[in-house]
Amino acid sequence: MRLDYLTIFPDYLAPLGLSLPGKAQERGLIEVHVHDLRQWTDDRHHTVDDTPYGGGAGMVMKPEPWGEAFDVLAIDGATLVVTTPSGEPFTQALARDLATRERLVFACGRYEGIDQRVLDHAAGRAEVREVSIGDYVLNGGEVAALAITEAVVRLLPGFMGNAESLTEESHEDGLLEYPVYTKPASWRGLDVPDVLLSGDHGRISAWRRDQAERRTTERRPDLLHPSRADSEWDVVAAT
Ligand code: ADE
Repeated sequence: MRLDYLTIFPDYLAPLGLSLPGKAQERGLIEVHVHDLRQWTDDRHHTVDDTPYGGGAGMVMKPEPWGEAFDVLAIDGATLVVTTPSGEPFTQALARDLATRERLVFACGRYEGIDQRVLDHAAGRAEVREVSIGDYVLNGGEVAALAITEAVVRLLPGFMGNAESLTEESHEDGLLEYPVYTKPASWRGLDVPDVLLSGDHGRISAWRRDQAERRTTERRPDLLHPSRADSEWDVVAAT
């Protein structure tokens, strides 16, 4: 998989050389290219933003540097991931989907966002996905691009040593993961639940499933009743 990152803060993406993506690069599973968007400006100040048409606070990223960058990088046929708080939610399902692509190009926006025409134009040559990593606002899309990269790269075939840990973790079965314990069996007066020491795999499985369901009910009821969330959207869509 080839990964390109367009940013005005290339140093922000230094962690791509560490940890999981670093290992994946060493193994030849991914090829990473980080680009400074300012190289595609032609004024003395390397300007990438301007005031919004229609007024309002903040600045908007100008279309020209993005357009030039997409031309030079020949993004045709790639999947363009634009990180923005107004994007579709990033989920494990989307990570699995993106892990099937040959090339991902990350556009890391700053300020109040990127001129919409950049995305509309790119949609004619690439698959454009505007993606949010959560309902909060970061200063820019770089951290979001890192998070998405890590979630995607660890799913690439041949990446994880222990494939089982991929299927057993939170979100893979739609539930949060059950609590886990290791030695010692007793620590500071707190004991590991007896069932986990029983050696009875059937009981252990049932206990884990029950714990996962309880945790999900308490912390993320929306995962158990997605149809409820959907129907709220249906009401909005119908109006
Ligand atoms: N840029 C700023 N906030 C973001 C978010 N929550 N997700 C993705 N990109 C962002």
